Amino acid sequence: MDFGKNLATQFEEIVSSSAIDGYIRQKLECIRSDQDLTTFFRRFALYNLAFPGGVAMLAGAFHMRPDIFQDKQESFIDNMDRSSEIASHIIFAAEDEFATSNRKIRVTHRMMAQEMVKFAKGFSNLSDDAFAESFSELTDYQEQALAIRNGYRVYSLENERDMFLALGFHLASERLADIEFNALSDILSRNFPAFVKAARQVSGPQSIRIYGWIATHTTVEVDHYAYSLRAAEMALEFYTGEMHTKQELYGLILDGFHEFIQHQRNMFEWLQ
Ligand SMILES: [Fe+2]
Ligand SMILES: [Fe+2]
Repeated sequence: MDFGKNLATQFEEIVSSSAIDGYIRQKLECIRSDQDLTTFFRRFALYNLAFPGGVAMLAGAFHMRPDIFQDKQESFIDNMDRSSEIASHIIFAAEDEFATSNRKIRVTHRMMAQEMVKFAKGFSNLSDDAFAESFSELTDYQEQALAIRNGYRVYSLENERDMFLALGFHLASERLADIEFNALSDILSRNFPAFVKAARQVSGPQSIRIYGWIATHTTVEVDHYAYSLRAAEMALEFYTGEMHTKQELYGLILDGFHEFIQHQRNMFEWLQ
């Protein structure tokens, strides 16, 4: 298989030419007050809510297509399908989302995000009522959530074209999550040291530190991305369907990747 440049190289070029890192940092620098922090975390937490579901659905969609992902080198017919192996490399990113690393403590990243919002609210001395009043437009995130459902093609994952577009979307989301959380961590440490110090000392459910939500995401995303990249390589290698050429599938993955970068820009405009 020779598509000119391999996927990883191609993605790095897209990320660097998009200048998304600088854009994200510039947007995050606009957080100026404790009240801003609360607003930011509420929106950012809601924005992140949908991803694990999208990843799980995407993994399921690949898993259920043994008919189009097969290793033709395998001589034993019942061992030919590779769909579960591809799905495993996609679901890797979602496994972290639903539990801690030993899997028995079912603290989800969503729960950690909720604790962060609650903590930020307390830090800026907002009562629950004042918070509810400030954010009476409780539905303003639904457009973002819909964009993520659309990006992951949750309504059309039976369609091979959409599976590959969604895979590209997923790849970019993992690649950019690393950039985004590291930028956030840097800017919080620099501009809000008292907040960071307190969030590192206070614990939420199962004694997990409030700041753990951010700290975790500054490291796990590199692996999430690496595994999703392997999933894409395998999906291209083992595709045996007749709907698309491998060159077309490669292009669909890149299209999905570009789509997420644009989505990330829209999202940061909304966060602001
Ligand atoms: Fe997460
Ligand atoms: Fe991730």
